[in-house]
Amino acid sequence: MKLQVESFGSETEWARGIADRWQERLTANPALRHCLAAGLTPVRIYAEMIRRVREGSARFGDARIFLLDEYGGLAPDDPGRCANMLRRFLVDHLDLPPSAFFTPSVDAPDLDAACREYDATIGGGFDLVLLGIGTNGHVGMNEPGTPVDIDTHRAGLHVETVTSSARYMNHDRFPTWGLTIGLRPLLAAREVWLLATGAAKAGIVARLLAEEAHSDLPASWFRDHPNARLFLDRAAAGDVLA
Ligand code: F6R
Repeated sequence: MKLQVESFGSETEWARGIADRWQERLTANPALRHCLAAGLTPVRIYAEMIRRVREGSARFGDARIFLLDEYGGLAPDDPGRCANMLRRFLVDHLDLPPSAFFTPSVDAPDLDAACREYDATIGGGFDLVLLGIGTNGHVGMNEPGTPVDIDTHRAGLHVETVTSSARYMNHDRFPTWGLTIGLRPLLAAREVWLLATGAAKAGIVARLLAEEAHSDLPASWFRDHPNARLFLDRAAAGDVLA
Protein backbone atom coordinates (compact mmCIF):
# COMPACT_ATOMS: atom_id res chain seq x y z
CA MET A 1 0.00 0.00 0.00
CA LYS A 2 1.36 3.44 -0.98
CA LEU A 3 -1.29 5.40 0.94
CA GLN A 4 0.31 7.53 3.65
CA VAL A 5 -1.67 7.63 6.88
CA GLU A 6 -1.51 10.57 9.28
CA SER A 7 -3.43 10.57 12.52
CA PHE A 8 -4.02 13.56 14.83
CA GLY A 9 -4.91 13.69 18.52
CA SER A 10 -8.05 15.78 18.06
CA GLU A 11 -10.27 17.10 15.29
CA THR A 12 -8.92 20.60 15.89
CA GLU A 13 -5.32 19.44 15.38
CA TRP A 14 -6.46 17.42 12.37
CA ALA A 15 -8.05 20.50 10.73
CA ARG A 16 -5.03 22.70 11.45
CA GLY A 17 -2.57 20.07 10.23
CA ILE A 18 -4.43 19.65 6.94
CA ALA A 19 -4.84 23.43 6.51
CA ASP A 20 -1.05 23.84 7.00
CA ARG A 21 -0.41 21.43 4.14
CA TRP A 22 -3.09 23.08 1.98
CA GLN A 23 -1.58 26.52 2.57
CA GLU A 24 1.84 25.13 1.53
CA ARG A 25 0.38 23.70 -1.69
CA LEU A 26 -1.27 27.05 -2.54
CA THR A 27 1.92 28.95 -1.87
CA ALA A 28 3.88 26.61 -4.13
CA ASN A 29 1.20 26.73 -6.86
CA PRO A 30 -1.26 29.66 -6.57
CA ALA A 31 -3.18 28.36 -9.63
CA LEU A 32 -3.95 25.08 -7.83
CA ARG A 33 -6.85 23.17 -9.42
CA HIS A 34 -8.91 21.68 -6.60
CA CYS A 35 -11.69 19.14 -6.51
CA LEU A 36 -13.53 19.55 -3.20
CA ALA A 37 -16.16 17.51 -1.39
CA ALA A 38 -19.18 18.94 0.36
CA GLY A 39 -20.55 17.04 3.37
CA LEU A 40 -19.67 17.63 7.00
CA THR A 41 -16.20 16.08 7.34
CA PRO A 42 -14.20 18.93 5.73
CA VAL A 43 -16.11 21.79 7.40
CA ARG A 44 -13.48 22.43 10.07
CA ILE A 45 -10.69 22.44 7.51
CA TYR A 46 -12.65 24.89 5.38
CA ALA A 47 -13.20 27.16 8.42
CA GLU A 48 -9.45 27.08 9.05
CA MET A 49 -8.72 28.05 5.42
CA ILE A 50 -11.22 30.94 5.61
CA ARG A 51 -9.42 32.16 8.72
CA ARG A 52 -6.09 32.05 6.88
CA VAL A 53 -7.48 33.95 3.88
CA ARG A 54 -8.84 36.63 6.23
CA GLU A 55 -5.51 37.00 8.02
CA GLY A 56 -3.71 37.12 4.65
CA SER A 57 -1.65 33.93 4.96
CA ALA A 58 -3.50 32.00 2.24
CA ARG A 59 -4.95 33.17 -1.07
CA PHE A 60 -7.22 31.54 -3.66
CA GLY A 61 -7.22 34.44 -6.16
CA ASP A 62 -5.64 32.37 -8.95
CA ALA A 63 -7.01 28.96 -7.90
CA ARG A 64 -9.86 26.90 -9.39
CA ILE A 65 -12.38 24.85 -7.39
CA PHE A 66 -14.45 22.05 -8.93
CA LEU A 67 -17.35 20.65 -6.92
CA LEU A 68 -17.02 16.88 -6.53
CA ASP A 69 -20.70 16.00 -6.85
CA GLU A 70 -24.26 17.32 -6.74
CA TYR A 71 -27.63 15.90 -5.73
CA GLY A 72 -30.41 15.65 -8.28
CA GLY A 73 -34.07 16.46 -7.65
CA LEU A 74 -33.51 19.31 -5.18
CA ALA A 75 -34.38 22.96 -5.84
CA PRO A 76 -31.37 25.08 -6.88
CA ASP A 77 -31.58 27.05 -3.63
CA ASP A 78 -31.96 23.98 -1.38
CA PRO A 79 -29.39 24.40 1.43
CA GLY A 80 -28.66 20.66 1.20
CA ARG A 81 -27.36 20.90 -2.38
CA CYS A 82 -23.63 20.19 -2.43
CA ALA A 83 -22.81 23.46 -4.22
CA ASN A 84 -24.77 25.43 -1.62
CA MET A 85 -22.99 23.62 1.23
CA LEU A 86 -19.57 24.25 -0.29
CA ARG A 87 -20.44 27.92 -0.93
CA ARG A 88 -21.68 28.34 2.64
CA PHE A 89 -18.78 26.53 4.30
CA LEU A 90 -15.96 27.79 2.06
CA VAL A 91 -16.31 29.40 -1.35
CA ASP A 92 -18.39 32.45 -0.35
CA HIS A 93 -15.72 33.44 2.17
CA LEU A 94 -12.65 33.15 -0.06
CA ASP A 95 -10.94 35.60 -2.39
CA LEU A 96 -11.86 33.21 -5.24
CA PRO A 97 -13.52 34.87 -8.27
CA PRO A 98 -17.08 33.44 -8.75
CA SER A 99 -16.09 32.29 -12.25
CA ALA A 100 -13.41 30.01 -10.72
CA PHE A 101 -15.98 27.82 -8.92
CA PHE A 102 -17.28 25.06 -11.19
CA THR A 103 -20.27 22.77 -10.60
CA PRO A 104 -21.92 20.01 -12.68
CA SER A 105 -25.26 21.01 -14.31
CA VAL A 106 -27.53 18.65 -12.43
CA ASP A 107 -30.69 20.45 -13.63
CA ALA A 108 -29.84 20.11 -17.34
CA PRO A 109 -32.37 18.23 -19.52
CA ASP A 110 -29.60 16.07 -21.01
CA LEU A 111 -27.56 14.73 -18.10
CA ASP A 112 -25.14 12.75 -20.28
CA ALA A 113 -24.28 15.94 -22.14
CA ALA A 114 -23.93 17.77 -18.80
CA CYS A 115 -21.46 15.11 -17.63
CA ARG A 116 -19.37 15.32 -20.81
CA GLU A 117 -19.38 19.11 -20.50
CA TYR A 118 -18.14 18.89 -16.90
CA ASP A 119 -15.37 16.48 -17.96
CA ALA A 120 -14.34 18.96 -20.66
CA THR A 121 -14.28 21.80 -18.10
CA ILE A 122 -12.16 19.68 -15.76
CA GLY A 123 -9.83 19.22 -18.76
CA GLY A 124 -6.26 18.80 -17.54
CA GLY A 125 -7.34 17.39 -14.20
CA PHE A 126 -6.73 18.17 -10.56
CA ASP A 127 -3.69 19.16 -8.54
CA LEU A 128 -5.41 18.43 -5.24
CA VAL A 129 -8.55 16.44 -4.37
CA LEU A 130 -10.19 16.40 -0.92
CA LEU A 131 -12.57 13.49 -0.35
CA GLY A 132 -14.79 12.52 2.56
CA ILE A 133 -15.41 8.79 2.98
CA GLY A 134 -18.92 7.42 3.29
CA THR A 135 -19.62 4.79 5.94
CA ASN A 136 -19.99 2.25 3.10
CA GLY A 137 -16.68 3.31 1.51
CA HIS A 138 -18.07 5.61 -1.18
CA VAL A 139 -16.15 8.66 -2.40
CA GLY A 140 -18.15 11.39 -4.09
CA MET A 141 -21.19 9.45 -5.30
CA ASN A 142 -19.01 6.58 -6.48
CA GLU A 143 -20.83 3.91 -4.55
CA PRO A 144 -19.67 0.29 -4.04
CA GLY A 145 -19.66 -1.49 -7.39
CA THR A 146 -18.76 1.62 -9.45
CA PRO A 147 -16.28 0.86 -12.28
CA VAL A 148 -12.83 2.25 -11.57
CA ASP A 149 -12.41 3.79 -15.03
CA ILE A 150 -15.57 5.92 -14.99
CA ASP A 151 -15.71 9.71 -15.71
CA THR A 152 -18.41 12.14 -14.53
CA HIS A 153 -21.71 10.27 -14.45
CA ARG A 154 -25.21 10.05 -13.05
CA ALA A 155 -25.14 7.86 -9.95
CA GLY A 156 -27.88 6.21 -7.95
CA LEU A 157 -27.33 6.52 -4.19
CA HIS A 158 -27.29 3.50 -1.90
CA VAL A 159 -29.95 3.40 0.82
CA GLU A 160 -27.29 4.10 3.48
CA THR A 161 -26.17 7.22 1.57
CA VAL A 162 -29.73 8.46 1.14
CA THR A 163 -30.34 8.08 4.88
CA SER A 164 -27.06 9.78 5.65
CA SER A 165 -28.01 12.81 3.51
CA ALA A 166 -30.64 13.65 6.15
CA ARG A 167 -27.79 15.35 8.06
CA TYR A 168 -27.64 18.01 5.34
CA MET A 169 -31.36 18.57 4.73
CA ASN A 170 -33.98 20.74 6.39
CA HIS A 171 -36.77 18.51 4.92
CA ASP A 172 -37.30 14.79 4.33
CA ARG A 173 -37.33 14.70 0.50
CA PHE A 174 -33.92 13.05 0.49
CA PRO A 175 -32.08 12.81 -2.83
CA THR A 176 -31.74 9.37 -4.43
CA TRP A 177 -29.32 10.23 -7.25
CA GLY A 178 -26.79 12.81 -8.36
CA LEU A 179 -23.96 13.67 -10.72
CA THR A 180 -20.46 12.88 -9.57
CA ILE A 181 -16.92 13.13 -10.83
CA GLY A 182 -15.91 9.54 -11.47
CA LEU A 183 -13.08 7.47 -10.08
CA ARG A 184 -10.91 7.85 -13.19
CA PRO A 185 -10.26 11.62 -12.91
CA LEU A 186 -10.04 11.37 -9.11
CA LEU A 187 -7.37 8.66 -9.38
CA ALA A 188 -5.56 10.72 -12.05
CA ALA A 189 -5.15 13.68 -9.64
CA ARG A 190 -1.63 14.69 -8.69
CA GLU A 191 -2.48 14.54 -4.98
CA VAL A 192 -5.47 13.12 -3.09
CA TRP A 193 -6.42 13.58 0.55
CA LEU A 194 -8.92 11.17 2.08
CA LEU A 195 -10.55 12.62 5.20
CA ALA A 196 -12.25 10.86 8.09
CA THR A 197 -13.18 11.97 11.59
CA GLY A 198 -15.29 10.55 14.38
CA ALA A 199 -16.04 7.07 15.68
CA ALA A 200 -18.72 6.49 13.02
CA LYS A 201 -15.94 6.29 10.41
CA ALA A 202 -13.62 3.96 12.39
CA GLY A 203 -15.15 0.81 10.86
CA ILE A 204 -14.71 1.87 7.24
CA VAL A 205 -11.21 3.22 8.00
CA ALA A 206 -10.21 -0.18 9.45
CA ARG A 207 -11.49 -1.90 6.30
CA LEU A 208 -9.71 0.58 4.04
CA LEU A 209 -6.42 -0.15 5.78
CA ALA A 210 -6.93 -3.92 5.85
CA GLU A 211 -8.36 -4.76 2.43
CA GLU A 212 -6.75 -4.80 -1.01
CA ALA A 213 -8.18 -2.38 -3.59
CA HIS A 214 -11.54 -3.61 -4.91
CA SER A 215 -14.71 -2.09 -6.32
CA ASP A 216 -16.92 -2.91 -3.32
CA LEU A 217 -14.89 -0.36 -1.37
CA PRO A 218 -14.34 2.59 -3.75
CA ALA A 219 -12.03 4.47 -1.35
CA SER A 220 -9.66 1.48 -1.45
CA TRP A 221 -8.51 2.36 -5.00
CA PHE A 222 -6.54 5.23 -3.44
CA ARG A 223 -4.38 2.75 -1.47
CA ASP A 224 -2.20 2.47 -4.58
CA HIS A 225 -2.29 6.11 -5.70
CA PRO A 226 1.28 7.46 -5.91
CA ASN A 227 0.49 10.56 -3.85
CA ALA A 228 -2.48 9.96 -1.54
CA ARG A 229 -2.83 10.62 2.16
CA LEU A 230 -5.43 9.49 4.66
CA PHE A 231 -5.95 12.06 7.42
CA LEU A 232 -7.61 10.74 10.58
CA ASP A 233 -8.50 12.11 13.96
CA ARG A 234 -8.11 9.84 16.99
CA ALA A 235 -11.72 8.63 16.93
CA ALA A 236 -11.67 7.66 13.23
CA ALA A 237 -8.29 5.94 13.64
CA GLY A 238 -9.88 3.68 16.28
CA ASP A 239 -7.63 0.79 17.28
CA VAL A 240 -5.90 0.35 13.92
CA LEU A 241 -3.11 2.85 14.50
CA ALA A 242 -2.85 2.45 18.27
C1 F6R B 1 -19.96 15.05 -0.45
C2 F6R B 1 -19.62 13.70 -0.89
C3 F6R B 1 -19.80 12.51 -0.02
C4 F6R B 1 -19.27 12.72 1.39
C5 F6R B 1 -19.37 11.44 2.21
C6 F6R B 1 -19.01 11.70 3.67
O1 F6R B 1 -19.74 15.96 -1.52
O2 F6R B 1 -19.19 13.53 -1.98
O3 F6R B 1 -19.16 11.41 -0.63
O4 F6R B 1 -17.93 13.15 1.33
O5 F6R B 1 -20.66 10.93 2.15
O6 F6R B 1 -19.95 12.60 4.18
P1 F6R B 1 -19.70 13.38 5.55
O7 F6R B 1 -18.43 14.12 5.37
O8 F6R B 1 -20.87 14.30 5.71
O9 F6R B 1 -19.60 12.33 6.60
